[in-house]
Amino acid sequence: MLWIFRYFLVFVSFTNLVTAEDQCRIEINIRGMALKGFVFKRMTVAAPHICDILCEREITCQSYNFNRKEQICELNNRTKDARPENFRSDPAWFYIRRLNGRAPLGSIPKLPARSCREIKASEGKNTASNKYWLDPSGTGKAVLVYFSPLYPYVSNFDENIVNNVKVHYSVNHFFFWISSKPKSIFTDDTANIDECTNGTHKCDMNADCHNTPGSYKCTCKDGFQGNGTDCTQRFNTAVFTNLGKSDSQGPDSVGSHYTGQDHNGQVTVSSGIQLWNVPHTGEYRIEAVGASGGYGQNSVINGGRGARMIGNFMLTKDEIISILVGQKGIRGGVNKNTGGGGGGTFVVRGNNIPLIIAGGGGGIKNMSEQHPGCDASINTTGNAGSNSPLGSGGSNGHGGDANGQSPGGGGGGFYGNGQGASSGSGRGGKGYLQGGRGGHARGGFGGGGGFRSGNRGAGGGGGYSGGNGAADEQFSCGGGGGSFNNGTNQQNECCFNSNKHGRVIITFLQ
Ligand SMILES: *[C@@H]1O[C@H](CO)[C@@H](O)[C@H](O)[C@H]1NC(C)=O
Ligand SMILES: *[C@@H]1O[C@H](CO)[C@@H](O)[C@H](O)[C@H]1NC(C)=O
Ligand SMILES: *[C@@H]1O[C@H](CO)[C@@H](O)[C@H](O)[C@H]1NC(C)=O
Ligand SMILES: *[C@@H]1O[C@H](CO)[C@@H](O)[C@H](O)[C@H]1NC(C)=O
Ligand SMILES: *[C@@H]1O[C@H](CO)[C@@H](O)[C@H](O)[C@H]1NC(C)=O
Ligand SMILES: *[C@@H]1O[C@H](CO)[C@@H](O)[C@H](O)[C@H]1NC(C)=O
Repeated sequence: MLWIFRYFLVFVSFTNLVTAEDQCRIEINIRGMALKGFVFKRMTVAAPHICDILCEREITCQSYNFNRKEQICELNNRTKDARPENFRSDPAWFYIRRLNGRAPLGSIPKLPARSCREIKASEGKNTASNKYWLDPSGTGKAVLVYFSPLYPYVSNFDENIVNNVKVHYSVNHFFFWISSKPKSIFTDDTANIDECTNGTHKCDMNADCHNTPGSYKCTCKDGFQGNGTDCTQRFNTAVFTNLGKSDSQGPDSVGSHYTGQDHNGQVTVSSGIQLWNVPHTGEYRIEAVGASGGYGQNSVINGGRGARMIGNFMLTKDEIISILVGQKGIRGGVNKNTGGGGGGTFVVRGNNIPLIIAGGGGGIKNMSEQHPGCDASINTTGNAGSNSPLGSGGSNGHGGDANGQSPGGGGGGFYGNGQGASSGSGRGGKGYLQGGRGGHARGGFGGGGGFRSGNRGAGGGGGYSGGNGAADEQFSCGGGGGSFNNGTNQQNECCFNSNKHGRVIITFLQ
């Protein structure tokens, strides 16, 4: 240690260019060590301080090794800090970093660094500049590299440079690669503002914000759907019901029936018809179920069964889909031995274009066993009840007939009303386009035909085409309504819904 001190004094006396700042710095020689692999000059000298002077004459000299026994001086173009892996033990030598005027590694074209990491290691906290000369592959051609001190270099920096890409970034770490003739100075200080934490992003409150170099991205959170600046609760599936209403007229309002469900807030009611505002553009699977018919109290079977029609449809965000959910036909008051027809269930787009319609079941006076004429049909033609051939009810979207003695009313179709008595009971159900009201008495909403009072003929079911009203016979039923399906992947079933109101289940596929 004593030697070092003496040496240092000698060194200072030899130097004219020592600045005030330099005088405060002390480099300590490290005995028994030498930096290998960066020697660019080697010579024999009379004393160690000569080596020091020689180092100061070379702009690229960063440190030197000195062999005391053989008085050999080796000038290095790196420090041990830049290349710790090359700093080796060798008892004959000592190592010392250049004291005065050492150019920071990479600060001049003659002394380019191999990598930014090397600069960092060499200069440590003194790495204040934002431009450096680099020669990544040791070609001898240095290029100027700019980067922001805001984004300290990272370990994969080197690879990026070797890739020789003009502007490169990795995660948050930027640098700019310019050809050997820099024309403009990049300022990237604003290039990577974190808009997400900065509060300048425009993501929806139900979106996650992801910062990206120079910008940001918004993605809707789980359970939400949209483009990130606009996220709405994701619609998966919803059941549209009769909203608690029964008998011949439709519901007046949604009330709280859909609270907490996917279609909450998307549905309004107009004249008994539910108007659904489609939440997302895409393919939906729609299941429509027609209502069942009413039945006399002593009938062995319940009223005619409603159809279930299922198909897939492309719907567009914000288009309005009209949904009429059919209501059960019922018996009533003193008329315990007959019943009104069930309402059809209608799903209709825009300008009265039917998508899918499930026929309602016919009303039953008394039947000892199931009869397909009482149930809804899965084709567009309605049935005519137990005493007539199948498929002879209303057709082509029209209402059903009312034939024979004291008949119940025919079911309403999509386009027209069912036939029926001109006054009193036994009225036809209204067509969908006519509002869908059930016929008097007790035809279900959705065009169910009304029964004839005095326990006479039962009503036909509503649907795409209406079922016929039944004549007043002891064992008889009104015909079930016809159905319609313009979807893909159809799945249709005639005799599905017994003793229940209709419903519509809509599922978003993608
Ligand atoms: C540093 O010295 C080594 C070894 O002599 C040499 O290969 C390399 O080119 C030199 N680098 C610089 C930047 O002068
Ligand atoms: C947020 O970003 C805006 C511009 O994008 C900038 O003006 C503002 O200084 C930034 N604020 C913070 C706190 O970073
Ligand atoms: C996101 O969607 C909303 C609503 O559909 C629209 O108003 C907005 O312009 C869209 N934004 C972008 C960036 O696409
Ligand atoms: C209904 O039919 C059943 C069996 O056919 C019969 O027992 C019953 O008396 C009938 N009821 C009425 C009200 O006609
Ligand atoms: C319609 O369905 C009925 C059964 O409900 C069947 O008897 C009739 O033949 C079908 N008509 C056509 C045209 O397929
Ligand atoms: C069924 O839908 C297609 C479009 O998907 C339409 O062109 C066609 O007219 C529809 N058919 C009926 C009967 O409405």
